[in-house]
Amino acid sequence: MGVALGIDVGGTKIAAGVVDDGGQIIARVRRPSRAADASSIVASILEVAQELTEEHRPSAIGVGAAGFIDATRRTVVFAPNIAWRDEPLADKLEEATGLPTVVENDANAAAWGEFQFGVATDASSIVFITLGTGIGGGIIMNGKLLTGGQGYAGEIGHLNVVPGGKRCGCGLLGCWEQYGSGTALVRLAKESAELNPAMARTLLGLVDGDATQITGYTVTQAAQLQCQAALGAIDSMAGYTAQALSDLSLILDPEMFVLAGGVSEAGDVVRNPITKAFRSYTAASGRESTIPIVTATLGNDAGIIGAADLSRVKASGS
Ligand code: BGC
Ligand code: NA
Ligand code: ZN
Repeated sequence: MGVALGIDVGGTKIAAGVVDDGGQIIARVRRPSRAADASSIVASILEVAQELTEEHRPSAIGVGAAGFIDATRRTVVFAPNIAWRDEPLADKLEEATGLPTVVENDANAAAWGEFQFGVATDASSIVFITLGTGIGGGIIMNGKLLTGGQGYAGEIGHLNVVPGGKRCGCGLLGCWEQYGSGTALVRLAKESAELNPAMARTLLGLVDGDATQITGYTVTQAAQLQCQAALGAIDSMAGYTAQALSDLSLILDPEMFVLAGGVSEAGDVVRNPITKAFRSYTAASGRESTIPIVTATLGNDAGIIGAADLSRVKASGS
């Protein structure tokens, strides 16, 4: 059985694995990444690649990177949450390892992983959304991963949801990412705790009263305990998210939306408010959308598995 290397590069960590044809990870490594330091992230990527190719013989390398990828799938042109500008990642990895390398957007790679081996194996048209540090998207239509003219298809985190709203890492104002990501959820919960500590009692209890320690995980935990501030923050991010999903449903009409990323791992406490708000946005003439919104099943591994699979397709020239 052949294996390929998958490397998932996000704003906070680098996760890599040796993946077999069946989408199973047979070896893995993980490193923190410092988003502000572009060259140290590249160095860590080369390190994990070297480490995993010492004992294994992958046929190719696939990288899923959190940014805008050029049409040739070799260079990260721009990353809103990592200090990368025109980073020739594929060149560097090929030089260091001698293995054919493909660079894909992180969310595209994870979407492909869920489509081939995860929650969407029976579907042919899906929109995958990851709610994490930023918001990423992967669009698969009729079995094909959309990349677009410049390579930027699926950059849905920068859809505008608030005209003139908060400044985004991409430079625009009011992007969905500023209102619906895990980062945004934490900000909304902190704002609410500051404004009304009584309403946030349960949430603040989970962080020993120190609002600076609030994380996406503690917000979803507090929501499960019926904390009003946490539920309110989730409702707010769910509203913005539903607005974006309703636009996407009109353009793409997917068979399902797949939610992934740290925030979605909490399950129904996040998925239900999004579904409810989405249905209400699409209820024109009493016909609400029936497109299911499901939670991804491969978790943090989707990007590794998807990137490895995409690289294999490339290496075999098909
Ligand atoms: C980036 C995307 C990425 C997403 C999730 C966004 O800020 O523009 O390229 O997929 O974050 O990491
Ligand atoms: Na994408
Ligand atoms: Zn943006």
